[in-house]
Amino acid sequence: MADGGNGGSAQAIVPRKGPEFAWADLPRWWFGNDPFRTRFFDAMSLLFPEGEKFFIACVRDYRERISDPALAAQVKDFIYQEGQHGIVHTAFNNHLKAQGVAVDHILERQKDIMFGFFRKRLPKVFTLGQTAAAEHMTALMAHGFFANGMFEDADPRVRAMYAWHAVEEIEHKAVAFDVFQKVARGGYFTRVLSMLQVSLTFPLHVFLIMRHMFKIDGVKNRFGVWMKGLWWLYGPGGLYPRLMRHYLAYFKPGFHPWQHGDLDTYTRWREAYEGSGNDAVHAADTVMAATRAAA
Ligand SMILES: [Fe+2]
Ligand SMILES: [Fe+2]
Repeated sequence: MADGGNGGSAQAIVPRKGPEFAWADLPRWWFGNDPFRTRFFDAMSLLFPEGEKFFIACVRDYRERISDPALAAQVKDFIYQEGQHGIVHTAFNNHLKAQGVAVDHILERQKDIMFGFFRKRLPKVFTLGQTAAAEHMTALMAHGFFANGMFEDADPRVRAMYAWHAVEEIEHKAVAFDVFQKVARGGYFTRVLSMLQVSLTFPLHVFLIMRHMFKIDGVKNRFGVWMKGLWWLYGPGGLYPRLMRHYLAYFKPGFHPWQHGDLDTYTRWREAYEGSGNDAVHAADTVMAATRAAA
């Protein structure tokens, strides 16, 4: 189960150089020839580079005030990892641009919201709360991605990109949260309010981008695609309900990111990655095969 709730101990944050992939021959609907599932992840990929710049900026606001050397080192590695994610997803997003997706326009709009509005108008502790909230969302999705075999019929390269990203989100999942609590002294109210805001606006933004992508793709029967896709996402046994318990844990007053999430798939990925000379496709395939065998 994705959210084992079985706790876990903090993992070292390993600064890895991001993997490189050739995207030119990627099928348009690389996820089981399914427009919804494909474009759901494509839309998230679009939002990552600017989002990650925002996260880095919000954590940096408090960097000077960090007195614990261990946390300072984690912040440094967190910044490196998020920077690499930005590079790898930008390369993927350039492929989306070549498909006709209005990448530049979408990123401008996102920049206006995050840097023009959030960073200028909201208190720094709140934007750090938004960062910690978004990091919880990415970490719980990372924990969930592989435990349930969801990427079975995905292109192995995109699966590998998300597996690598997921692993690093798990490794640094507590960094923004710890800076928020220990350094910025963010309180429970700010934590909950920022999480509610991120929980509402993030999916909305993703859906708006998907709507644009479906137009570009010339998807027929869009209503049917949305219905089937939303069922895959929110229906019984869907992606989000499976992650709900893990998501809701954030609202517990004594929550800490390392209290939750299965680490078996994480460990398996690392062993396969490091044992193969940093082959991200091999590592993701190994995790996938193990998940299949356990099903
Ligand atoms: Fe990231
Ligand atoms: Fe992250």
